[in-house]
Amino acid sequence: MNHIFNHAKILVTGGTGSWGHELVRQLLEKYPDLTEVRIYSRGEHRQVEMKQEFHNNPKLRFIIGDIRDKNILNFAMKDIDIVFHLAALKHVPVCEDNTWEAVLTNIYGTQNVVETAIANHVKRVVDVSTDKAVEPFNHYGITKAAGEKLMINANYNYSYNHHNETSFICVRGGNVIGTNGSVIPLFRKQLRESNEITVTNMDMTRYLMSTREAIGLIFTAVERAIGGELFVMNMPATSLKTIANVMIKLFGNAKSKIRVIGERPGEKKHEVLVSKNESPFSYVVSKRYYVILPQIHNEKLVKAYEHLVKFDKVEFTSENAGQLSENDIEALLKKEVWLWEK
Ligand SMILES: NC(=O)c1ccc[n+]([C@@H]2O[C@H](COP(=O)([O-])OP(=O)(O)OC[C@H]3O[C@@H](n4cnc5c(N)ncnc54)[C@H](OP(=O)(O)O)[C@@H]3O)[C@@H](O)[C@H]2O)c1
Repeated sequence: MNHIFNHAKILVTGGTGSWGHELVRQLLEKYPDLTEVRIYSRGEHRQVEMKQEFHNNPKLRFIIGDIRDKNILNFAMKDIDIVFHLAALKHVPVCEDNTWEAVLTNIYGTQNVVETAIANHVKRVVDVSTDKAVEPFNHYGITKAAGEKLMINANYNYSYNHHNETSFICVRGGNVIGTNGSVIPLFRKQLRESNEITVTNMDMTRYLMSTREAIGLIFTAVERAIGGELFVMNMPATSLKTIANVMIKLFGNAKSKIRVIGERPGEKKHEVLVSKNESPFSYVVSKRYYVILPQIHNEKLVKAYEHLVKFDKVEFTSENAGQLSENDIEALLKKEVWLWEK
């Protein structure tokens, strides 16, 4: 079978970040027949480090550029077959404080990806979104929701209506264990430095996925998609209390404390992966994945998915998802090698 990645040239915006790094690693490992992986980001330091870490792999090409800069993005997009769009401002408080910067990167930058991909006849663009984009309560989520709309509507306006060859799809992730700035490395650091964990709300729940699962979601989407779909994983969740207790068990001692500091602006108590409004347009692809079809009628998508079982929950939230116990979390964390490094 001629696999989508055979001889492909791939562009990863934000390729030096947590998801990007693992995506590039798995692309090179699983698809030795691909031709080139281009990594596009702003910081030279992280690019140099990554280049060394990948032993100057000749299939990797690093390009310094900002997704806000359409000229350089257009240059990076030349002859590309598949784009994984990961570059973003992703910290909730940063986006709250730098509202316009978040618009420029997460919305304007995403539209630049759409337009340069079309101009360069890219075959497929995958946008990596987040549960925070669903019924958004913070500005990060608002900008990522707009990013999803730009992608899904681009698929309708260009690919479906005008038979353009570029198709656009989205995936929504939950919290990826151990990514830059996430709660587990934060708790680990706090225990090491002050033996006290700060928790916003003990009952708050969050979806959790490993980096391997995150990349599995991206690969499933890019391999299956027709264009215009949004893929989510049937992900388990857990409470902050459970995570805090396990972190203290693994890295603390009898004197470790938990201090409750209250929600930060823009934080929800529970996250949503499939909203009440999206649920009627959603199908079960497998035990592991759901697909959400766009509300704008797309005959091609309806024909491709109508034989599947309809999604039967009113909504899918981190409160009604399967909950990971302390034992489950402990087992998960024991696999995260970086956590154990001093
Ligand atoms: N981490 C999670 O738990 C999670 C969950 C769901 C969805 N996501 C989504 O997954 C994507 C990647 O997240 P991550 O955790 O890997 O983030 P990350 O570690 O912060 O990486 C972000 C990447 O984007 C690049 N970047 C940022 N602004 C840019 C710009 N204006 N132009 C070009 N490159 C830019 C960064 O490099 P430079 O700063 O050097 O440019 C870096 O390579 C994001 O879109 C995020 O919304 C993440």
